[in-house]
Amino acid sequence: MEPFCLVDPEKLRHPFPDYEYCRRENPVFFYEPMNAWFVFRYADVDRLFHDERLSNARMGGYVPGALPSYREAVEWLFANYFRHWLLSLDGEPHRALRRHLQPHFSERAVSGWVPAIEEMTGELLDRVAAQGFMDFSRDFAYELPVLVISSLLGVPAGERRRVIGWSDHLANYFNVIPPTEQTSAEMVDSTREMIDYLEGLLRQRRSRPEADLLSRMAGSGLEEAVIVANAMVLLVAGHETTRNLMGSCVSLLLRHPDQLARLRADMSLLPRAIDETLRMEPANPIMARLVAEDFEYAGDALRRGQLLFLGIGSANRDPAFVEDPERFDIGRKPGKHLGFGSGPHFCIGSILARREASIALRELLTRFPGLRGDGPEEWVCQAGMRGPLRLPIRWT
Ligand code: HEM
Repeated sequence: MEPFCLVDPEKLRHPFPDYEYCRRENPVFFYEPMNAWFVFRYADVDRLFHDERLSNARMGGYVPGALPSYREAVEWLFANYFRHWLLSLDGEPHRALRRHLQPHFSERAVSGWVPAIEEMTGELLDRVAAQGFMDFSRDFAYELPVLVISSLLGVPAGERRRVIGWSDHLANYFNVIPPTEQTSAEMVDSTREMIDYLEGLLRQRRSRPEADLLSRMAGSGLEEAVIVANAMVLLVAGHETTRNLMGSCVSLLLRHPDQLARLRADMSLLPRAIDETLRMEPANPIMARLVAEDFEYAGDALRRGQLLFLGIGSANRDPAFVEDPERFDIGRKPGKHLGFGSGPHFCIGSILARREASIALRELLTRFPGLRGDGPEEWVCQAGMRGPLRLPIRWT
């Protein structure tokens, strides 16, 4: 069987039957044209998230796969920036950088931002409240995460359009397999612009520090390229994913009116509804790793330099992990879904993302009674990213 998760847009829209098939028949799958492995079962995906024979220097794995006309540019970006990304590092350098960044995303730090997140949420909802309808993705979910992460870093609100564009292009490049002329050109141009912009902002913060994350990073003794590279990561990682989480949650609730009614009746279920969304519709259905040394896994010979894709979307629906996995049930006891990954690279922004989504959903449901769908949804269904792009809703 041809693997769904690479090239077939039809299958990417509804990959779940293929997940089921692969978990049963082909749990560790080698796709020759890409020299890459795909892993589908929960136990394997979770185990391999912790395996040190797999490296996060995966961006290096994308260099040979770059289109020939972009290889030099991709190589340059990798050598100077992408290799400094927190999510590209392994071992001690990874732990050291994580120690720098983690405190800024702790429960305590995030609690400090709650009033600002509530205010931004309120302003976005005020804009559409009177009209009685909106495209939840475009008018809200697309806006809030970038406002939050930009204000946290110290990127002025007026720049957020540019940030959204850069971030979309960068994420698209790594989510669309294999790269196309368009995803390559957009990624290279946007990344260069983003680097120039962040270098400028960093210079300003070095001379006049403010109470933002970029100023704190500027005073941390980290190298300039490391700061710029990781500011880039935070802007991109904190944007697309949280947008998709909020959209997927609203979409799932609208498609399951019994669960929506249950939530309205007991809003303390909101954190569980958010985790159930991350289980059923993780924003990142796959995560890449680079095989760092030859080794045998489940009878297969993995070779150094190959890419390996961890199937989060499939693992989260594995019946060996969760009972009745195709059912959306906001009352489930929290289990360890893999929507935020697992192991040393577990999402550093998970507390922020959960908090943001829960403020957004709480406000939406309490301010807008009679919430319902208002026409067809349109979803981004890429190999590495999934969520509603257009989600029309209406209220009374
Ligand atoms: C619903 C929202 C989110 C989802 C589904 C998500 C998902 C993930 C996943 C699956 C990983 C693991 C990557 C790997 O194993 O290679 C990860 C890591 C990461 N995430 Fe998130 N993320 C979300 C929100 C955020 C936010 C809001 C931020 C930042 C403000 C963020 C920043 C990061 C960073 C920096 C890493 C790398 C951590 C490391 O390598 O140590 N994420 N995220």
